[in-house]
Amino acid sequence: MAKLELDGKKYELPVVVGSEGEKAIDISALRSSSGYITLDEGYGNTGSCISSITFIDGEKGILRYRGIPIEELAESSTFIEAAHLLIWGKLPTNQELSDFSRLLSKNEMLHEDMKLHFQGFPAHAHPMAILSAMINAAGCFFPELLEEREAFVVQAARLISQVRTIAAFSYRKSLGLPPIYPKPSYKYTANLLHMMFSEPYEDYELLPEVVQALDLIFLLHADHEQNCSTATVRMVASSKASLFACAAAGVCALWGPLHGGANQAVLEMLEQIHQSGDDGSRFIRQAKDKNSGKRLMGFGHRVYKNYDPRARIIKKKCDQLLGVLRKKDPLLDIAKHLEEAVLSDSYFIERKLYPNVDFYSGIIMRAIGIPLNMFTVMFAIGRMPGWIANFKEMMEDPNGRIGRPRQIYNGPTEDHYIPIGKRS
Ligand code: CMC
Repeated sequence: MAKLELDGKKYELPVVVGSEGEKAIDISALRSSSGYITLDEGYGNTGSCISSITFIDGEKGILRYRGIPIEELAESSTFIEAAHLLIWGKLPTNQELSDFSRLLSKNEMLHEDMKLHFQGFPAHAHPMAILSAMINAAGCFFPELLEEREAFVVQAARLISQVRTIAAFSYRKSLGLPPIYPKPSYKYTANLLHMMFSEPYEDYELLPEVVQALDLIFLLHADHEQNCSTATVRMVASSKASLFACAAAGVCALWGPLHGGANQAVLEMLEQIHQSGDDGSRFIRQAKDKNSGKRLMGFGHRVYKNYDPRARIIKKKCDQLLGVLRKKDPLLDIAKHLEEAVLSDSYFIERKLYPNVDFYSGIIMRAIGIPLNMFTVMFAIGRMPGWIANFKEMMEDPNGRIGRPRQIYNGPTEDHYIPIGKRS
Protein backbone atom coordinates (compact mmCIF):
# COMPACT_ATOMS: atom_id res chain seq x y z
CA MET A 1 0.00 0.00 0.00
CA ALA A 2 1.13 3.56 -0.71
CA LYS A 3 0.23 6.20 1.87
CA LEU A 4 -0.86 9.68 0.90
CA GLU A 5 -1.63 12.62 3.17
CA LEU A 6 -3.80 15.43 1.82
CA ASP A 7 -5.42 18.27 3.75
CA GLY A 8 -4.67 16.44 7.00
CA LYS A 9 -6.40 13.23 5.88
CA LYS A 10 -4.61 9.95 5.18
CA TYR A 11 -5.33 7.68 2.24
CA GLU A 12 -4.07 4.23 1.39
CA LEU A 13 -3.56 3.47 -2.29
CA PRO A 14 -2.99 -0.07 -3.57
CA VAL A 15 0.30 -0.86 -5.29
CA VAL A 16 0.21 -2.93 -8.49
CA VAL A 17 3.30 -4.91 -9.50
CA GLY A 18 3.77 -6.24 -13.05
CA SER A 19 5.28 -9.59 -13.98
CA GLU A 20 8.66 -7.92 -14.64
CA GLY A 21 8.60 -6.06 -11.33
CA GLU A 22 7.42 -2.65 -12.57
CA LYS A 23 5.40 -0.86 -9.92
CA ALA A 24 2.37 1.43 -10.03
CA ILE A 25 0.20 3.18 -7.50
CA ASP A 26 -3.45 2.47 -8.28
CA ILE A 27 -5.27 5.80 -8.02
CA SER A 28 -8.61 4.61 -9.47
CA ALA A 29 -10.44 5.57 -6.24
CA LEU A 30 -8.46 8.75 -5.53
CA ARG A 31 -10.99 11.31 -6.76
CA SER A 32 -14.01 9.66 -5.22
CA SER A 33 -12.27 9.41 -1.84
CA SER A 34 -10.29 12.68 -1.76
CA GLY A 35 -11.65 15.01 -4.48
CA TYR A 36 -8.16 15.19 -6.02
CA ILE A 37 -7.07 14.07 -9.47
CA THR A 38 -3.49 13.55 -10.64
CA LEU A 39 -1.92 15.78 -13.29
CA ASP A 40 0.57 14.29 -15.74
CA GLU A 41 0.83 16.18 -19.04
CA GLY A 42 2.21 13.90 -21.75
CA TYR A 43 1.40 10.88 -19.53
CA GLY A 44 5.08 10.27 -18.69
CA ASN A 45 4.08 8.78 -15.30
CA THR A 46 0.66 7.39 -16.09
CA GLY A 47 -0.14 3.76 -16.76
CA SER A 48 -3.28 3.69 -18.90
CA CYS A 49 -3.82 -0.07 -18.80
CA ILE A 50 -2.54 -3.43 -17.64
CA SER A 51 -1.33 -5.32 -20.69
CA SER A 52 0.34 -8.65 -21.41
CA ILE A 53 1.42 -7.94 -25.00
CA THR A 54 4.77 -6.14 -25.04
CA PHE A 55 7.40 -5.46 -22.40
CA ILE A 56 9.93 -2.63 -22.59
CA ASP A 57 12.65 -1.77 -20.11
CA GLY A 58 13.79 1.60 -21.41
CA GLU A 59 16.69 1.90 -18.97
CA LYS A 60 18.20 -1.42 -20.06
CA GLY A 61 17.15 -1.22 -23.73
CA ILE A 62 14.97 -4.36 -23.61
CA LEU A 63 12.00 -5.06 -25.90
CA ARG A 64 10.02 -8.32 -25.84
CA TYR A 65 6.87 -9.40 -27.65
CA ARG A 66 4.87 -11.74 -25.36
CA GLY A 67 8.10 -12.40 -23.45
CA ILE A 68 10.30 -13.19 -26.46
CA PRO A 69 13.29 -10.84 -26.94
CA ILE A 70 13.13 -8.78 -30.12
CA GLU A 71 16.66 -9.93 -31.03
CA GLU A 72 15.51 -13.58 -31.16
CA LEU A 73 12.47 -12.73 -33.24
CA ALA A 74 14.56 -10.61 -35.60
CA GLU A 75 16.98 -13.48 -36.06
CA SER A 76 14.52 -16.33 -36.56
CA SER A 77 10.95 -15.16 -37.11
CA THR A 78 8.90 -13.35 -39.76
CA PHE A 79 6.49 -10.46 -39.62
CA ILE A 80 3.42 -12.67 -40.01
CA GLU A 81 4.58 -15.12 -37.35
CA ALA A 82 5.26 -12.18 -34.99
CA ALA A 83 1.79 -10.80 -35.82
CA HIS A 84 0.27 -14.11 -34.73
CA LEU A 85 2.35 -14.05 -31.57
CA LEU A 86 1.25 -10.52 -30.69
CA ILE A 87 -2.45 -10.98 -31.45
CA TRP A 88 -3.01 -14.50 -30.11
CA GLY A 89 -0.30 -14.52 -27.45
CA LYS A 90 1.63 -17.54 -28.74
CA LEU A 91 3.86 -18.57 -31.61
CA PRO A 92 1.73 -20.39 -34.19
CA THR A 93 2.01 -24.08 -34.99
CA ASN A 94 2.59 -24.99 -38.65
CA GLN A 95 -1.14 -25.50 -39.07
CA GLU A 96 -2.05 -22.19 -37.39
CA LEU A 97 0.48 -20.30 -39.48
CA SER A 98 -0.75 -21.76 -42.76
CA ASP A 99 -4.40 -21.13 -41.76
CA PHE A 100 -3.56 -17.51 -40.95
CA SER A 101 -1.59 -17.09 -44.20
CA ARG A 102 -4.53 -18.51 -46.16
CA LEU A 103 -6.87 -16.05 -44.47
CA LEU A 104 -4.52 -13.18 -45.33
CA SER A 105 -4.50 -14.22 -49.00
CA LYS A 106 -8.27 -14.68 -49.06
CA ASN A 107 -8.81 -11.15 -47.77
CA GLU A 108 -6.17 -9.25 -49.71
CA MET A 109 -8.40 -7.87 -52.47
CA LEU A 110 -10.14 -4.55 -52.05
CA HIS A 111 -13.72 -4.10 -53.19
CA GLU A 112 -13.57 -2.90 -56.83
CA ASP A 113 -15.61 0.19 -55.95
CA MET A 114 -12.79 1.36 -53.71
CA LYS A 115 -10.88 2.27 -56.87
CA LEU A 116 -13.29 5.19 -57.25
CA HIS A 117 -12.22 6.51 -53.86
CA PHE A 118 -8.56 6.35 -54.88
CA GLN A 119 -9.38 8.37 -57.99
CA GLY A 120 -10.82 11.15 -55.85
CA PHE A 121 -7.51 12.00 -54.15
CA PRO A 122 -5.29 14.68 -55.67
CA ALA A 123 -1.97 13.31 -57.01
CA HIS A 124 0.02 15.12 -54.31
CA ALA A 125 -2.07 13.76 -51.39
CA HIS A 126 0.15 12.33 -48.65
CA PRO A 127 -0.15 8.51 -48.62
CA MET A 128 -0.78 8.60 -44.85
CA ALA A 129 -3.93 10.67 -45.47
CA ILE A 130 -5.00 8.20 -48.14
CA LEU A 131 -4.20 5.24 -45.89
CA SER A 132 -6.27 6.50 -42.99
CA ALA A 133 -9.23 7.46 -45.20
CA MET A 134 -9.14 4.20 -47.12
CA ILE A 135 -8.92 2.00 -44.02
CA ASN A 136 -12.11 3.66 -42.82
CA ALA A 137 -13.62 3.31 -46.29
CA ALA A 138 -12.66 -0.38 -46.42
CA GLY A 139 -14.58 -0.84 -43.17
CA CYS A 140 -17.75 0.46 -44.88
CA PHE A 141 -17.57 -2.29 -47.48
CA PHE A 142 -18.00 -4.93 -44.79
CA PRO A 143 -21.13 -4.11 -42.81
CA GLU A 144 -20.76 -7.41 -40.96
CA LEU A 145 -17.63 -5.90 -39.42
CA LEU A 146 -19.55 -2.97 -37.98
CA GLU A 147 -22.24 -5.27 -36.69
CA GLU A 148 -19.58 -7.43 -35.05
CA ARG A 149 -20.91 -10.45 -36.93
CA GLU A 150 -17.56 -11.29 -38.42
CA ALA A 151 -15.14 -13.52 -36.53
CA PHE A 152 -12.31 -11.50 -35.04
CA VAL A 153 -9.68 -13.61 -36.79
CA VAL A 154 -11.19 -12.67 -40.16
CA GLN A 155 -11.34 -8.98 -39.22
CA ALA A 156 -7.70 -9.05 -38.13
CA ALA A 157 -6.56 -10.85 -41.30
CA ARG A 158 -8.62 -8.51 -43.48
CA LEU A 159 -7.05 -5.45 -41.88
CA ILE A 160 -3.45 -6.70 -41.99
CA SER A 161 -3.87 -7.83 -45.58
CA GLN A 162 -5.82 -4.91 -46.97
CA VAL A 163 -3.66 -2.24 -45.40
CA ARG A 164 -0.87 -3.56 -47.60
CA THR A 165 -3.05 -3.46 -50.72
CA ILE A 166 -4.20 0.08 -49.90
CA ALA A 167 -0.61 1.21 -49.34
CA ALA A 168 0.51 -0.17 -52.71
CA PHE A 169 -2.50 1.27 -54.55
CA SER A 170 -1.93 4.72 -53.05
CA TYR A 171 1.72 4.62 -54.11
CA ARG A 172 0.75 3.68 -57.69
CA LYS A 173 -1.95 6.33 -57.69
CA SER A 174 0.57 9.01 -56.66
CA LEU A 175 2.60 8.15 -59.77
CA GLY A 176 -0.43 7.92 -62.07
CA LEU A 177 0.24 4.20 -62.59
CA PRO A 178 -2.37 1.42 -62.85
CA PRO A 179 -2.86 -0.68 -59.72
CA ILE A 180 -1.22 -4.09 -59.62
CA TYR A 181 -3.31 -6.81 -58.01
CA PRO A 182 -1.90 -9.05 -55.28
CA LYS A 183 -0.64 -12.53 -56.14
CA PRO A 184 -1.91 -15.12 -53.66
CA SER A 185 1.19 -17.27 -54.24
CA TYR A 186 3.46 -14.57 -52.78
CA LYS A 187 4.09 -14.22 -49.09
CA TYR A 188 3.10 -11.03 -47.28
CA THR A 189 6.09 -8.75 -47.83
CA ALA A 190 6.95 -10.07 -51.29
CA ASN A 191 3.38 -9.33 -52.31
CA LEU A 192 3.66 -5.73 -51.18
CA LEU A 193 6.82 -5.21 -53.22
CA HIS A 194 5.10 -6.87 -56.19
CA MET A 195 2.05 -4.60 -55.91
CA MET A 196 4.24 -1.51 -55.62
CA PHE A 197 6.90 -2.19 -58.24
CA SER A 198 5.64 -4.71 -60.82
CA GLU A 199 4.19 -3.42 -64.08
CA PRO A 200 1.30 -4.95 -66.03
CA TYR A 201 3.86 -6.09 -68.63
CA GLU A 202 6.74 -7.10 -66.30
CA ASP A 203 7.02 -8.58 -62.82
CA TYR A 204 9.32 -6.92 -60.30
CA GLU A 205 12.36 -9.06 -59.54
CA LEU A 206 12.07 -10.10 -55.89
CA LEU A 207 15.52 -10.33 -54.32
CA PRO A 208 15.29 -12.49 -51.17
CA GLU A 209 17.59 -10.10 -49.26
CA VAL A 210 15.33 -7.14 -50.08
CA VAL A 211 12.16 -9.01 -49.11
CA GLN A 212 13.78 -10.16 -45.86
CA ALA A 213 15.03 -6.64 -44.97
CA LEU A 214 11.57 -5.11 -45.41
CA ASP A 215 9.96 -8.00 -43.52
CA LEU A 216 12.41 -7.32 -40.68
CA ILE A 217 11.43 -3.66 -40.63
CA PHE A 218 7.77 -4.68 -40.30
CA LEU A 219 8.60 -7.15 -37.53
CA LEU A 220 10.59 -4.56 -35.58
CA HIS A 221 7.72 -2.08 -35.80
CA ALA A 222 4.99 -4.59 -34.95
CA ASP A 223 4.34 -3.34 -31.41
CA HIS A 224 5.78 -0.96 -28.88
CA GLU A 225 3.31 -0.86 -25.99
CA GLN A 226 1.52 2.38 -25.09
CA ASN A 227 3.00 4.86 -27.59
CA CYS A 228 1.00 7.76 -29.05
CA SER A 229 -0.72 5.78 -31.83
CA THR A 230 -1.42 2.63 -29.80
CA ALA A 231 -2.80 4.72 -26.96
CA THR A 232 -4.99 6.44 -29.58
CA VAL A 233 -6.22 3.09 -30.88
CA ARG A 234 -7.08 2.05 -27.33
CA MET A 235 -8.81 5.36 -26.64
CA VAL A 236 -10.98 5.05 -29.76
CA ALA A 237 -11.62 1.37 -29.02
CA SER A 238 -12.82 2.30 -25.53
CA SER A 239 -15.87 3.94 -27.14
CA LYS A 240 -16.55 0.55 -28.84
CA ALA A 241 -15.73 1.84 -32.33
CA SER A 242 -14.92 -0.81 -34.95
CA LEU A 243 -11.46 -2.27 -35.50
CA PHE A 244 -11.10 -0.46 -38.84
CA ALA A 245 -12.12 2.90 -37.31
CA CYS A 246 -9.57 2.42 -34.51
CA ALA A 247 -6.82 1.55 -37.00
CA ALA A 248 -7.64 4.62 -39.12
CA ALA A 249 -7.26 6.78 -36.00
CA GLY A 250 -3.98 5.03 -35.22
CA VAL A 251 -2.64 5.96 -38.66
CA CYS A 252 -3.40 9.65 -38.03
CA ALA A 253 -1.66 9.59 -34.65
CA LEU A 254 1.34 7.84 -36.16
CA TRP A 255 1.76 10.37 -38.95
CA GLY A 256 3.37 13.21 -36.96
CA PRO A 257 7.16 13.77 -37.10
CA LEU A 258 7.60 13.15 -33.36
CA HIS A 259 6.20 9.65 -33.81
CA GLY A 260 6.11 7.50 -36.99
CA GLY A 261 6.72 10.49 -39.25
CA ALA A 262 10.25 10.66 -37.81
CA ASN A 263 11.55 8.15 -40.37
CA GLN A 264 10.68 10.56 -43.19
CA ALA A 265 12.02 13.50 -41.16
CA VAL A 266 15.35 11.69 -40.58
CA LEU A 267 15.93 11.22 -44.30
CA GLU A 268 14.96 14.82 -45.01
CA MET A 269 17.44 15.93 -42.35
CA LEU A 270 20.22 13.72 -43.75
CA GLU A 271 19.55 14.97 -47.27
CA GLN A 272 19.60 18.57 -46.07
CA ILE A 273 22.95 17.98 -44.32
CA HIS A 274 24.33 16.28 -47.43
CA GLN A 275 23.23 19.05 -49.77
CA SER A 276 24.65 21.77 -47.53
CA GLY A 277 28.05 20.05 -47.58
CA ASP A 278 28.04 19.95 -43.76
CA ASP A 279 29.28 16.82 -41.96
CA GLY A 280 26.45 17.21 -39.46
CA SER A 281 28.27 19.40 -36.93
CA ARG A 282 26.20 22.48 -37.79
CA PHE A 283 22.97 20.52 -37.47
CA ILE A 284 24.03 19.10 -34.10
CA ARG A 285 24.75 22.63 -32.88
CA GLN A 286 21.29 23.74 -33.97
CA ALA A 287 19.61 20.70 -32.39
CA LYS A 288 21.17 21.68 -29.06
CA ASP A 289 19.92 25.25 -29.34
CA LYS A 290 16.35 25.45 -28.00
CA ASN A 291 15.68 28.61 -30.05
CA SER A 292 16.45 26.97 -33.38
CA GLY A 293 13.25 24.88 -33.30
CA LYS A 294 15.30 21.94 -34.62
CA ARG A 295 15.77 18.49 -33.15
CA LEU A 296 18.02 15.71 -34.20
CA MET A 297 15.43 13.48 -35.80
CA GLY A 298 15.77 9.76 -35.05
CA PHE A 299 17.28 10.51 -31.65
CA GLY A 300 15.66 10.31 -28.24
CA HIS A 301 12.73 8.37 -26.94
CA ARG A 302 10.20 8.78 -24.16
CA VAL A 303 10.88 5.30 -22.83
CA TYR A 304 14.37 4.29 -23.98
CA LYS A 305 17.10 5.96 -21.98
CA ASN A 306 19.56 3.59 -23.63
CA TYR A 307 20.20 2.44 -27.22
CA ASP A 308 16.89 1.40 -28.81
CA PRO A 309 17.39 -2.36 -29.43
CA ARG A 310 15.53 -2.05 -32.74
CA ALA A 311 18.01 0.60 -33.95
CA ARG A 312 20.92 -1.75 -33.28
CA ILE A 313 19.31 -4.52 -35.38
CA ILE A 314 18.36 -2.14 -38.20
CA LYS A 315 21.83 -0.60 -38.34
CA LYS A 316 23.37 -4.05 -38.86
CA LYS A 317 20.80 -4.93 -41.53
CA CYS A 318 21.47 -1.61 -43.24
CA ASP A 319 25.16 -2.42 -43.68
CA GLN A 320 24.35 -5.95 -44.88
CA LEU A 321 21.74 -4.89 -47.42
CA LEU A 322 23.80 -2.08 -48.94
CA GLY A 323 26.63 -4.62 -49.26
CA VAL A 324 24.41 -7.13 -51.07
CA LEU A 325 22.99 -4.46 -53.37
CA ARG A 326 26.50 -3.06 -53.89
CA LYS A 327 25.16 0.38 -53.10
CA LYS A 328 27.00 3.15 -51.35
CA ASP A 329 24.79 5.75 -49.76
CA PRO A 330 26.42 8.98 -48.61
CA LEU A 331 23.49 9.44 -46.24
CA LEU A 332 24.53 6.27 -44.36
CA ASP A 333 28.00 7.76 -43.88
CA ILE A 334 26.47 11.00 -42.59
CA ALA A 335 24.15 9.04 -40.27
CA LYS A 336 27.06 7.06 -38.81
CA HIS A 337 29.10 10.21 -38.39
CA LEU A 338 26.19 11.94 -36.65
CA GLU A 339 25.69 8.99 -34.32
CA GLU A 340 29.37 8.90 -33.41
CA ALA A 341 29.48 12.65 -32.75
CA VAL A 342 26.28 12.64 -30.74
CA LEU A 343 27.16 9.67 -28.55
CA SER A 344 30.20 11.54 -27.26
CA ASP A 345 28.45 14.91 -26.87
CA SER A 346 27.60 15.91 -23.28
CA TYR A 347 24.22 17.46 -24.31
CA PHE A 348 22.99 14.11 -25.62
CA ILE A 349 24.75 12.03 -22.95
CA GLU A 350 23.18 14.01 -20.09
CA ARG A 351 19.71 13.69 -21.62
CA LYS A 352 20.25 10.03 -22.51
CA LEU A 353 19.40 10.58 -26.17
CA TYR A 354 20.30 7.57 -28.32
CA PRO A 355 19.37 6.57 -31.89
CA ASN A 356 15.83 5.23 -32.11
CA VAL A 357 14.19 2.84 -34.60
CA ASP A 358 13.71 5.60 -37.17
CA PHE A 359 17.34 6.59 -37.47
CA TYR A 360 18.50 3.83 -39.83
CA SER A 361 15.23 2.35 -41.16
CA GLY A 362 14.88 5.08 -43.81
CA ILE A 363 18.25 4.22 -45.34
CA ILE A 364 17.12 0.61 -45.85
CA MET A 365 13.83 1.74 -47.37
CA ARG A 366 15.62 4.16 -49.65
CA ALA A 367 17.95 1.37 -50.82
CA ILE A 368 14.91 -0.77 -51.64
CA GLY A 369 13.46 2.08 -53.70
CA ILE A 370 10.60 3.04 -51.40
CA PRO A 371 9.93 6.76 -51.80
CA LEU A 372 10.25 9.13 -48.85
CA ASN A 373 6.56 9.87 -48.44
CA MET A 374 5.82 6.13 -48.11
CA PHE A 375 8.18 5.60 -45.16
CA THR A 376 5.57 6.26 -42.49
CA VAL A 377 3.09 4.09 -44.38
CA MET A 378 5.60 1.22 -44.00
CA PHE A 379 5.67 1.93 -40.25
CA ALA A 380 1.84 1.78 -40.20
CA ILE A 381 1.80 -1.57 -42.04
CA GLY A 382 4.26 -2.90 -39.49
CA ARG A 383 2.37 -1.54 -36.47
CA MET A 384 -0.98 -3.02 -37.49
CA PRO A 385 -0.61 -6.31 -35.50
CA GLY A 386 0.24 -4.33 -32.36
CA TRP A 387 -2.86 -2.15 -32.73
CA ILE A 388 -5.00 -5.24 -33.36
CA ALA A 389 -3.55 -7.02 -30.32
CA ASN A 390 -4.27 -3.98 -28.13
CA PHE A 391 -7.79 -3.67 -29.55
CA LYS A 392 -8.43 -7.36 -28.83
CA GLU A 393 -7.06 -7.09 -25.30
CA MET A 394 -9.43 -4.21 -24.61
CA MET A 395 -12.46 -5.93 -26.08
CA GLU A 396 -11.79 -8.97 -23.92
CA ASP A 397 -11.44 -6.97 -20.71
CA PRO A 398 -14.70 -7.33 -18.78
CA ASN A 399 -13.82 -4.27 -16.67
CA GLY A 400 -13.05 -1.99 -19.65
CA ARG A 401 -14.35 1.57 -19.34
CA ILE A 402 -14.48 4.39 -21.85
CA GLY A 403 -11.27 6.47 -21.83
CA ARG A 404 -12.07 9.85 -20.38
CA PRO A 405 -9.25 11.83 -18.74
CA ARG A 406 -9.98 14.81 -16.52
CA GLN A 407 -8.36 18.23 -16.57
CA ILE A 408 -7.51 21.15 -14.35
CA TYR A 409 -9.42 24.13 -15.71
CA ASN A 410 -7.56 27.46 -15.64
CA GLY A 411 -9.82 29.62 -17.84
CA PRO A 412 -12.01 32.52 -16.68
CA THR A 413 -14.24 31.96 -13.68
CA GLU A 414 -18.01 32.53 -14.12
CA ASP A 415 -18.76 35.47 -16.43
CA HIS A 416 -21.97 36.68 -18.11
CA TYR A 417 -23.28 37.01 -21.64
CA ILE A 418 -23.17 40.58 -23.04
CA PRO A 419 -25.41 41.43 -26.03
CA ILE A 420 -23.30 42.27 -29.11
CA GLY A 421 -24.25 45.96 -29.13
CA LYS A 422 -22.98 46.46 -25.59
CA ARG A 423 -19.54 44.86 -26.06
CA SER A 424 -16.53 47.14 -26.10
N1 CMC B 1 17.27 16.48 -30.39
C1 CMC B 1 17.66 17.42 -29.52
N2 CMC B 1 17.22 17.48 -28.24
C2 CMC B 1 16.32 16.56 -27.85
C3 CMC B 1 15.86 15.55 -28.73
C4 CMC B 1 16.38 15.53 -30.04
N3 CMC B 1 15.98 14.59 -30.90
N4 CMC B 1 14.96 14.78 -28.08
C5 CMC B 1 14.85 15.28 -26.85
N5 CMC B 1 15.68 16.35 -26.70
C6 CMC B 1 15.91 17.13 -25.47
C7 CMC B 1 14.74 18.06 -25.17
O1 CMC B 1 14.91 19.33 -25.78
C8 CMC B 1 14.77 18.10 -23.68
O2 CMC B 1 15.84 18.95 -23.28
P1 CMC B 1 15.71 19.81 -21.91
O3 CMC B 1 15.63 18.79 -20.81
O4 CMC B 1 16.94 20.64 -21.87
O5 CMC B 1 14.46 20.63 -22.03
C9 CMC B 1 15.19 16.68 -23.27
O6 CMC B 1 15.94 16.20 -24.38
C10 CMC B 1 14.01 15.75 -23.02
O7 CMC B 1 13.15 15.80 -24.16
P2 CMC B 1 11.58 15.67 -24.13
O8 CMC B 1 11.00 16.40 -25.31
O9 CMC B 1 11.06 16.02 -22.78
O10 CMC B 1 11.40 14.13 -24.36
P3 CMC B 1 10.06 13.41 -24.73
O11 CMC B 1 10.11 12.10 -24.04
O12 CMC B 1 8.89 14.28 -24.47
O13 CMC B 1 10.15 13.22 -26.32
C11 CMC B 1 10.69 12.37 -28.44
C12 CMC B 1 10.53 12.05 -26.95
C13 CMC B 1 10.91 11.05 -29.19
C14 CMC B 1 9.41 13.01 -28.98
C15 CMC B 1 11.91 13.32 -28.64
O14 CMC B 1 13.09 12.69 -28.18
C16 CMC B 1 12.05 13.77 -30.08
O15 CMC B 1 11.44 14.75 -30.47
N6 CMC B 1 12.90 13.05 -30.91
C17 CMC B 1 13.01 13.36 -32.31
C18 CMC B 1 11.83 12.75 -33.07
C19 CMC B 1 11.95 11.26 -33.20
O16 CMC B 1 12.98 10.73 -33.56
N7 CMC B 1 10.82 10.55 -32.95
C20 CMC B 1 10.74 9.10 -33.10
C21 CMC B 1 10.55 8.41 -31.80
S1 CMC B 1 10.85 6.62 -31.92
C22 CMC B 1 9.61 6.00 -32.95
C23 CMC B 1 8.27 6.13 -32.36
O17 CMC B 1 7.96 5.45 -31.37
O18 CMC B 1 7.47 6.90 -32.90
